[in-house]
Amino acid sequence: MATESSDNTAAATVGTDDEFVRPIDPGQYNVPDWEAVAGPAAADPQAFWEKEARELEWFEPWDKVLDDSDAPFFKWFTGAKTNIVHNALDRWIDGPRRNKLALIWRSENNKETRTLSYYSLNREVNKMANIIRSMGIRKGDRVTIYLPRIPEIFYAMLACAKLGAVHSVVFAGFSADALRDRIDDSESKLVITADGSWINGKIFKLKDIVDDAVRHAPTVENVIVVRRTGHEVQMDPLRDHWLHDLETLPIANGRCETVAVDAEDPLYILYTSGSTGRPKAILHTHGGYMVGTYSTFKYVFDIREEDRYWCTADPGWVTGHSYLVYGPLLNGATVFMFEGGASYPYPNRWWQLIEHYGINIFYTAPTAIRSLMRFGDAWPNRHDLSSLRILGSVGEPINPEAWRWFHHVIGKDRCPIMDTWWQTETGMFMITPTPSVPLKPGSGTRPFFGQEAEILDDAGNPVADGDEGYLVLKNPWPSMLRTLYKDDQRYVDTYWSKYPGKYLAGDSARRDKDGYIWVIGRTDDVIKVSGHRLGTAEVESAFVSHPAVAEAAVIGLPHEIKGNAIHAFAVLRMGYEPSEALRDELRQHISEHLSPIAKPDGIEFVESLPKTRSGKIMRRVLRARAQGLPEGDLSTLDD
Ligand code: WTA
Repeated sequence: MATESSDNTAAATVGTDDEFVRPIDPGQYNVPDWEAVAGPAAADPQAFWEKEARELEWFEPWDKVLDDSDAPFFKWFTGAKTNIVHNALDRWIDGPRRNKLALIWRSENNKETRTLSYYSLNREVNKMANIIRSMGIRKGDRVTIYLPRIPEIFYAMLACAKLGAVHSVVFAGFSADALRDRIDDSESKLVITADGSWINGKIFKLKDIVDDAVRHAPTVENVIVVRRTGHEVQMDPLRDHWLHDLETLPIANGRCETVAVDAEDPLYILYTSGSTGRPKAILHTHGGYMVGTYSTFKYVFDIREEDRYWCTADPGWVTGHSYLVYGPLLNGATVFMFEGGASYPYPNRWWQLIEHYGINIFYTAPTAIRSLMRFGDAWPNRHDLSSLRILGSVGEPINPEAWRWFHHVIGKDRCPIMDTWWQTETGMFMITPTPSVPLKPGSGTRPFFGQEAEILDDAGNPVADGDEGYLVLKNPWPSMLRTLYKDDQRYVDTYWSKYPGKYLAGDSARRDKDGYIWVIGRTDDVIKVSGHRLGTAEVESAFVSHPAVAEAAVIGLPHEIKGNAIHAFAVLRMGYEPSEALRDELRQHISEHLSPIAKPDGIEFVESLPKTRSGKIMRRVLRARAQGLPEGDLSTLDD
């Protein structure tokens, strides 16, 4: 499937169709057997979702489970009134989970722990909601959240949702330029941030970045600042407020009413990278998103009352939204969040935390597994990991070697690995096993209950089993994106126009003889670097914002740890000469103007870029060149 733009095949994802890893005792899980749920759900997906929705509380019931009269603008649970925070928090406060731990948080320096019961988390969310309400935030208003992995990010997200305001979380590793674009596009009135974050013992100055971004953002009226690192920051007396000062105001106290919203009212927007141009604002709503994340979390992780669940994702990405914040709280689970990274100060940090807190369910990313695997088995082996029951993987295809290491060395061959394929757009797991399903290392197994996937060729015909093609989803699902914020047309064009009536995922995949799906990689200009989603266009525009660069093209190249690494080709302007110093300067420039995660591994200076006669960059040719492979058919090359 050599489309001109298909340039990201993940690192060696070759699994074997016949390698089954079966559960030791499928009967040990509380969730029903796959077939028992999948059969009826396939026969009537809406009935399945209606049953799931009934496990949650609604202020008013729905008239219709699915309204597809304006497809692809699908609506779920129309007519119903609810609020995701009512189900994630309020309903636990008067019941037996009132004093159960909702959140356990550990600081990077290992010196601080914060534990919040459902009661306490609710109190903090009420406080934050009272504060932002007093700043004029109401239903429908957008709030940008730019916070590190600290409990306040839970308070901020949930406080917005409680009021019916729309949160837009921006990963606290994005630059001022990227943050400004997202604040502007969302027209946020309020930004919630911190003075800084801790990254491997060093301070990353978030407030400085916000100052830079907000200077040119006319919609922002207030900035709330959480004190985290304690270094000196500039505070604009009219615009900026320390959270700890606001918390002492009388207005912060007391219960803040959870606003009843329509099931279809927006819950959040989350910017993610697409094929072309600026990032896309994925829009999710209260009702359907709530049902989807609740249900998938319950079935896939077999969550139990006494469990401690750890998702290593940052709340700045969709995994953090769905499976660090909303999914677990909707299930009344105990969540663990760690401020730091995987191997600071030593590569046993995560294993030590699993042992210390008795983590039962551990959900992480292939890139982290690969990087920790590199340090050898002795690091995990010195820890008691026997509390673990279920493991999970997300973000990119997991290569079978990493899968087997995770299964054997971390899970001691006892813990099934839930390889969950999904996207910012899907809001919830779409292709995933449940714990009793026989697994194959490297495959996410089959579509979740009520869903069907197809692998199609360019013309829209299903390909033969074993052949690679475009992955599409056939049935609408409750937590699907509703649109791209302020851009309905782009929503239709991106996801629903290649194959009308079917959702185009943007991934290539194959299905094997057992119906298991193997996701291979992106088919568009999205590059997954360490599981982070980046668009070639964003990186290229960061390049050309440097005075030395006339034109740039970036591609993803397979990388042992990161899955893909960014490799760039730059055409210099007159008067600039290629040099090692310029290369370093450009790397630094990308880091500052987009994000450190977008730093290219390789930069090649070239005279010109290979283009088609219509001016499209031939990434296929660039990739072949970078890897020293034959360049293939060059008949469409302009020059
Ligand atoms: C990739 C992350 C293979 C895929 C939740 C998808 C995966 C993109 C998997 C979405 C997986 C995610 N196996 N590939 N288990 N999970 N992907 O929006 O290419 O950051 O289209 O959402 O990640 O990335 P996003």
